[in-house]
Formats: sequence, C-alpha cells, structure tokens
Amino acid sequence: MNKVLLGVLATLALGAASVATIAASGIVAVGADTPHHPVVLGVLEFTRERAIAGHSAGIQAPADLDTPERIRRGAGNYAAMCVDCHLAPALPDSEIRKGLYPKPPNLAAGVQGSGARRDAARDFWIIKHGIKASGMPAWSKGGMDDEAIWDLAAFVQTMPGLSKTAYAQLVATSDGHVHGGMDGHDARPAAGAAGAPKPTVSPTAGHVHDGHEHGAHPH
Ligand code: HEC
Repeated sequence: MNKVLLGVLATLALGAASVATIAASGIVAVGADTPHHPVVLGVLEFTRERAIAGHSAGIQAPADLDTPERIRRGAGNYAAMCVDCHLAPALPDSEIRKGLYPKPPNLAAGVQGSGARRDAARDFWIIKHGIKASGMPAWSKGGMDDEAIWDLAAFVQTMPGLSKTAYAQLVATSDGHVHGGMDGHDARPAAGAAGAPKPTVSPTAGHVHDGHEHGAHPH
C-alpha cells in the first residue's frame, strides 16, 4: 500500500517538475500570433464553458429583457465599448480583432451556424465578469451597473437580425455611451462641443501604417 502511495507521489512530483522545467525554459509560445496546441485549446475551452455554466446557473434574466427601450439603450453602449472587438452588421472585421487571441466572436453573426437564441444569463455573466487572459474585460469593474449590462445582453440578442441601416438607426436614437457608475460623466459630445478649444499638440498623420486595406493610408 505504502509502495503504491509512494509511486503515485513520485509520478505527481515528476509531472510537476516537468511542467516547471518547461515553464522555466522560456520555450512556451505566449505570443498572441501563435495558436494554442489543439489539446491545450480543448482543455481551456472546456474549463471556460464549465465555469461560465456553473457561475451563471442561478442568474434570471429580467422579464422586460426584450423591450425596445433596453435594446435602444444597449445599442449606444455597444457602439461605444464593444464594436471594435465584436463587430456589427456589415462590419466584416477590425484591426484589433484580427490580432486578438482568442478572437472575439462576431456578435453580429449570431450563435455560430445555428440561428439559435443567445443565452442571456450567460452573456450577462461574461459581460459583468469578463474572461481572464482573453481581452474580454469585466465591465462591472469599470462601474457598469447590472441594468446597463442587461441592456447590452438584450441588444446582442437582437443584433444578428439587424441590417446595417437598422443598426445605425438604433445607435443614433440611443442615449450614446451612458450607464450607471460613470460618476456623472456623459461620454456624449456636449452641445457646442464643435466650438471647443483645439488641442495644442502638433498634429500627426493620424491612424496610418502599412497594411491598411481601407484607404486610411495617404499614398
Ligand atoms: C478588447 C476586446 C473586447 C472588447 C472591447 C469586448 N470584448 Fe467581449 N470578448 C472578447 C473576447 C476575446 C472574447 C472571447 C473570450 C474567450 O473566448 O475566452 C469575448 C467574449 C464575449 C462574449 C461571449 C461570446 C460567446 O458567444 O462566447 C460576449 C457576450 C461579449 N464578449 C460581450 C461583450 C460586450 C457586450 C462588450 C462591450 C461592453 C465587449 N464584449 C467588449 C473581447 C472583447
């Protein structure tokens, strides 16, 4: 019996030593431009889904989730905080999304390949708490309250059915980037902002670099 126990302990110690040696060797590919080994990816995705399912199990979506008012409010915050990573109808990709690993899902495309309705409680939990080491922020840390998070969950459920024009109209009629926890700061441009004093720093050429396919390069 003691020999069996010793054997198990020795195997565990050997495993831990191997992991430590690999970690210390500096050979692990941590760059976001190198994908995980499929086995590592599988383990990470399985762990993520089990954890989200466990943590969001008791969450109940509000009865008024589908109301136009929530969707309208969610549209403004989505356009301000999420669109660069999660795209929008007729926005095929973005620079930041191309470089992120894991790649943020295209939320305008709906639940991949299925046309199924999104799980609002799952989305609520992810938006509120974020996902470690992925680029998905915990928006509650920035001060966003639960009601504004539900507004976003309502909006992302609706977005796959929107045309480019319908999306633009919803954003235009929203209240812009406004949610609880902003300390009275309203990110909408103030009335008369056009007349605000000009910045004193010297102008740069703006957002310009090689590889642009969208005409931002002043050749
Ligand atoms: C800097 C990029 C970035 C921003 C900004 C961002 N996200 Fe994410 N988001 C991610 C990444 C990356 C994932 C995937 C994480 C993973 O696969 O582990 C993700 C995952 C999600 C998911 C889960 C999608 C699914 O089907 O599994 C939802 C929902 C989501 N984000 C909503 C939002 C909302 C709403 C906002 C704006 C308030 C937002 N995100 C802003 C990067 C971002």
